Amino acid sequence: EKGGYKHFMLKEIFEQPRAIRDTTLGRISLDTGKVFLSEMKISDEDFRRATKINIAACGTSWHAATAGKFMIERLARVPVEVDYASEYRYRDPIPDPTALGLLITQSGETADTLAAQREMISKGSKTIAICNVVGAMIAREAHGTIYTHAGPEIGVASTKAFTAQLVALFLFAVHLAQARQTISEDEGRALLEELTMLPGKVEEILKTVDGECEKLARIYSNVSDFLFLGRGIHYPIALEGALKLKEISYIHAEGYPAGEMKHGPNALIDETLPVVVLATQDKSNRDSKLRYEKTLSNIQEVTARSGKVIAVAVEGDTDIGHLVEHVLHVPHTSELLLSVLDVIPLQLLAYHIAVRRGCDVDQPRNLAKSVTVE
Ligand code: M6R
Repeated sequence: EKGGYKHFMLKEIFEQPRAIRDTTLGRISLDTGKVFLSEMKISDEDFRRATKINIAACGTSWHAATAGKFMIERLARVPVEVDYASEYRYRDPIPDPTALGLLITQSGETADTLAAQREMISKGSKTIAICNVVGAMIAREAHGTIYTHAGPEIGVASTKAFTAQLVALFLFAVHLAQARQTISEDEGRALLEELTMLPGKVEEILKTVDGECEKLARIYSNVSDFLFLGRGIHYPIALEGALKLKEISYIHAEGYPAGEMKHGPNALIDETLPVVVLATQDKSNRDSKLRYEKTLSNIQEVTARSGKVIAVAVEGDTDIGHLVEHVLHVPHTSELLLSVLDVIPLQLLAYHIAVRRGCDVDQPRNLAKSVTVE
């Protein structure tokens, strides 16, 4: 049942090229550059009129939501607010029937996320679910569902469902942008072409980076703390890297926006602290280049204090190797889709460290696959 893999988690990490392909399949046309979302009782008119998108989710799905905010705001120019589902109801949200609700949930049964959805509906919003389980409660109560076709996820630590959520959010963002005419046909086509190349690129990472992460695990499996840094859309990916490591290896880990380090956490850095920095870039994108340059200065702030940097960078980045202890390479893609590539090394790193520490990676202590209590 584990298909020759030692753990479900590793099997599911390696299933990501297929999960991404299946989530894209049948939903895009490369001829017209259009995205088709079926199972939607929400019209293009609703999409055009939406004044805001409210997203609620928990855990890893919340990280996907936070990355999704970058995709939706960048492409469709609609303001997005992201809440922890467990907080949403209790902050007395302001009713706004022209806002669309978006719930992101692998299981579709998370009690906090369901409660947030019901709150949104009671305030007059239509809701859309991004869900991996057909017919799950949250999908049933939604006005529209974008199913992630990741297949059943057994490992408690979410991996392939997460990357499939990022892809579903990307499709949603492109669809919304088309309805609102904030991107041209050519732009739509170019974005979708990049998307279709993603599974092959993930395969490449799995081939090269898995062994490197296993080696890194030998060096770093005994540390007591880890830091993960990123900027822009890579910041939620840093949070996801930290969560993966915490939940399966029990090492304390924190994710931080790289630019915030100087406002406090720099005090933590010493020669014992490994710092994973997401330093990929899309050279064709001005914002991405700027982000990369700023990230390089953040790396120098860490190395100047003797912190040990493990960087995730794009292939062919020769500059970064001189600055850091280790580099894990991923192929090139556009800025928003780099988020899907740079999480893969973080999943593999967490996995190999946890295995070396003798942890039960598929069934971590104190955790359940789906959290059906509030
Ligand atoms: O099924 P959901 O996506 O709603 O679950 C949300 C979280 O409970 C889940 O992502 C959790 O954080 C995972 N253990 C992360 O690996």
